[in-house]
Amino acid sequence: MRSVRVAVFPAAGLGTRFLPATKAQPKEMLPLVDRPLVQYVVEEAKAAGIERIVIVTGRGKNAIEDHFDTSFELEKMLEERGKDDLLAIVREVSDLIPVSYVRQKTALGLGHAILQAKDLVGQEPFAVLLGDDIVDSKVPCIGQMMQVYEERGNPVIAIQEVSPSQTQQYGIVAGERETDGIVRITGMVEKPAPEKAPSNLAIIGRYILPPEIFDVLEETRSDSGGEIQLTSGLATLLERQPIDGYLFEGKRYDAGDKLGFLMATVEFALKRKDLGRDFRQYLRTLDLS
Ligand code: G1P
Repeated sequence: MRSVRVAVFPAAGLGTRFLPATKAQPKEMLPLVDRPLVQYVVEEAKAAGIERIVIVTGRGKNAIEDHFDTSFELEKMLEERGKDDLLAIVREVSDLIPVSYVRQKTALGLGHAILQAKDLVGQEPFAVLLGDDIVDSKVPCIGQMMQVYEERGNPVIAIQEVSPSQTQQYGIVAGERETDGIVRITGMVEKPAPEKAPSNLAIIGRYILPPEIFDVLEETRSDSGGEIQLTSGLATLLERQPIDGYLFEGKRYDAGDKLGFLMATVEFALKRKDLGRDFRQYLRTLDLS
């Protein structure tokens, strides 16, 4: 069994939930405190031991490439002005991890986005991280899943219980609970209405997938909305091999949603050494009645 070395980051979505902020900038570049969302997920992958990443971009996403690139003028200017601390912050981002890019020319769904990474991933297992899902945890969420993968050898999907009324926002799995947070998945469906949902176990944007998923996605038909869903591909893969759901440890924020984004902003700011105390003090002065 090969270990997981590469991670794919689909970042071609249109970001309509954040318009007009995302009219001229990618949603992945919206800042949580002072780092863009995409940087948190890339740092999570790096902390888990991922060696290289593939970002699937699309039109209007150049800022993501610029962010992980060196910025000659900025670095030169900071160097000349003796701003060593800022220089270190800027260099840390471009030195983070080797990145390759591939474009998804039309927004045909998450499954289609991942398919674009086929040649850059090659014939090995890989991780997928969705930038809308920010997970705060002691051990990086994708690292927890890599551990499960190494122990059991099956593809792994991060899952979390959600309120039954929210099933329409997620892929939902059916399965049998085993020990240690593992659910042996028996079925899955994309965004079912509450009355049709097989459970309240929702798929969160972290996956460990085998290279076979690419062949499956190539054969997966688009749904009624014209999108090739990753969940549909996974449901087909499940007919050929076992897939594990994993109830990860950590707090997940839906940063692709305005309220979730605000929650993450407040909690991440409160945790910051340089800001937390003053921010907490400020929050206490607010009349929240
Ligand atoms: C995607 C997946 C869905 C999953 C969700 C997690 O949906 O299609 O199965 O539950 O990510 O965030 P999206 O939120 O991109 O519509």
